[in-house]
Amino acid sequence: MASPYAILDVPPTADAEVLRAAYRSKIKAAHPDQGGSLEEFVLIKEAYEEAMHTLASPDHEPADVTYHPPRGHVGYTVSYLDHAVVRREGWAVDDPENFARAEALDLPVSEFGAFAVEHRESVLEAAERHGFSWPYSCRGGACANCAILVVEGAVEMSVNTVLTTRMRERGIRLSCIGEPVTEHLAVIFDIGSLPGLADLRLPAQQVNPAE
Ligand code: FES
Repeated sequence: MASPYAILDVPPTADAEVLRAAYRSKIKAAHPDQGGSLEEFVLIKEAYEEAMHTLASPDHEPADVTYHPPRGHVGYTVSYLDHAVVRREGWAVDDPENFARAEALDLPVSEFGAFAVEHRESVLEAAERHGFSWPYSCRGGACANCAILVVEGAVEMSVNTVLTTRMRERGIRLSCIGEPVTEHLAVIFDIGSLPGLADLRLPAQQVNPAE
């Protein structure tokens, strides 16, 4: 089998940002909705995961891991709230007061908090980089496992997705391919139990950063 770097068309010295850019470009072209095949889609997804896994291994010696934001880039922050809290407290998921209410509770960081997102990084990638295990499956816009509800700010997705127009109008985005386009976001994650999303889910996968 070809190396993951050959499949992604990057050098073996590629850093995370180069891998992400190559993955997004390739997965977009290979998406079944864009005329690609499922086999090609899966091959690219697995190559990306293997290359990222290698990059994260303790034996890997990256040439340069310094993050260089583009000129003028001020960074993005994401405030997050677990949908499990919303359900447990009996709140309506669309209620704009949810984050203010969550502030008053003594919630663990796995359920409520904030993290930074780098330039060209998806919300899911940033969550994982900060040690969180948010749900996902395909990592390419073909399921709803990674869906989030954007309560504040805006998120752009790099490919067409399985989400309906109505879902997108409601503020639902896919965190695996969704990048912030406003400096601050507030999102509710793990919303797979909302109406319509359960039918769009695939068998779950999840990164465990501790492994
Ligand atoms: S994990 Fe399938 S669309 Fe994000």
